[in-house]
Amino acid sequence: MSAGARVRRRRRTGLALAVVVLAVAIVVSFAKQRETLRGPAAKPLPGPALRTLAKDDHILLGTALRDEPLRDEPGYRKDIVREFAAVTPENAMKWDAVEPERGTFKWGGADRAVDFAAEHGLKVRGHTLVWHAQLPGWLTDGNFERTGLLHLMTGHIRREMGRYKGRVPTWDVVNEAVADDGSLRQSLWGKELGPGFIAAAFTAARKADPKARLAINEIGAESIGPKSDTLLRIVRKLKQRGLVDEVGFQAHFNLNGVPKTMESNLKRFAKLGVDIAITEADVALPDKAGPEALQAQAKVYARLVRTCRAVPRCKALTVWGFTDRASWIPHNQPGFGRATLLDDQLAPKPAYRAFQDALRGS
Ligand code: G3I
Repeated sequence: MSAGARVRRRRRTGLALAVVVLAVAIVVSFAKQRETLRGPAAKPLPGPALRTLAKDDHILLGTALRDEPLRDEPGYRKDIVREFAAVTPENAMKWDAVEPERGTFKWGGADRAVDFAAEHGLKVRGHTLVWHAQLPGWLTDGNFERTGLLHLMTGHIRREMGRYKGRVPTWDVVNEAVADDGSLRQSLWGKELGPGFIAAAFTAARKADPKARLAINEIGAESIGPKSDTLLRIVRKLKQRGLVDEVGFQAHFNLNGVPKTMESNLKRFAKLGVDIAITEADVALPDKAGPEALQAQAKVYARLVRTCRAVPRCKALTVWGFTDRASWIPHNQPGFGRATLLDDQLAPKPAYRAFQDALRGS
């Protein structure tokens, strides 16, 4: 073989090698991407499942459910089925998700949540029918007059509850109606329809699914104060008309902890003859906080569980996500993550064990 031919052959071999290396690199990177897409595997968790311990306390234990990891992450799904007895679709049932354009309905996420729950024997908390946030633009910018708006509100309730009749046993009918100072929140609903929108929504909901349990859900009303005083008056009136079955306290906490008056507050609501639910519990931590913050967080979770156990009518407790990889906190409150029981790799944090111990009564 001539020197020229040898050089050409070496070049060809080199090129072929480079192509093989590139192909392998592409395959490995695709495989890695797919692994990320599918999320971490569920980790072994110590002791009995939380749902079992909660059941012994007559508490239905739930978690917020996100559509993306529900679709993509087997570990996420596995943990839910193992640890929880109920799910609350975190965003999939909100008005902007189900009717982004007027008259165009997208039930994909909501259906997925309800089907997943049915497949695994989990209860669903419908969330949420009448709220001031996550409303579609056509509704907020529509300048509807009073009667038209009322009609849209009751129509939305009828349609959504009707679709899931018999499959969603509890609904957050009205969410966050009261402002922090105890006045009616000046939302689209409060501003345009006045305080009567609340009873109108509950009346429509009762009619839409007479067997469903109807809840009013509130944020920041855990302690005794102007906000919970107003809520108490609203609930008393609704209860007198047979329109409400349950009051939801969201319990979005941080390291300031559970308010001292929470237990007595829940008890005064229970006295009205309604059930109590903790509906969106989490405990936000600054990202920069050290390991001692995780211990402090564990104490807040434990205290919350004990508070629910101390109120006989506190029948449900839902955490607003159970893993840091699917929690609203980092996205909506940048600088604050790590608010849930498991870390972003699904490994238990001190809060998980503390939650377990508190459910056991220890
Ligand atoms: O859907 C859009 C998507 O199209 C867009 O590309 C993306 C870009 O950021 O945003 C997506 O919308 C996000 C939406 O969740 C759906 O994922 C919003 O940015 C985000 O702000 C929104 O946050 C939700 C928040 O409600 C809105 O107020 C949280 O996930 C949800 O956990 C949170 O839940 C509420 C309860 O329903 C009621 N109580 C308070 C609680 C916390 O705010």
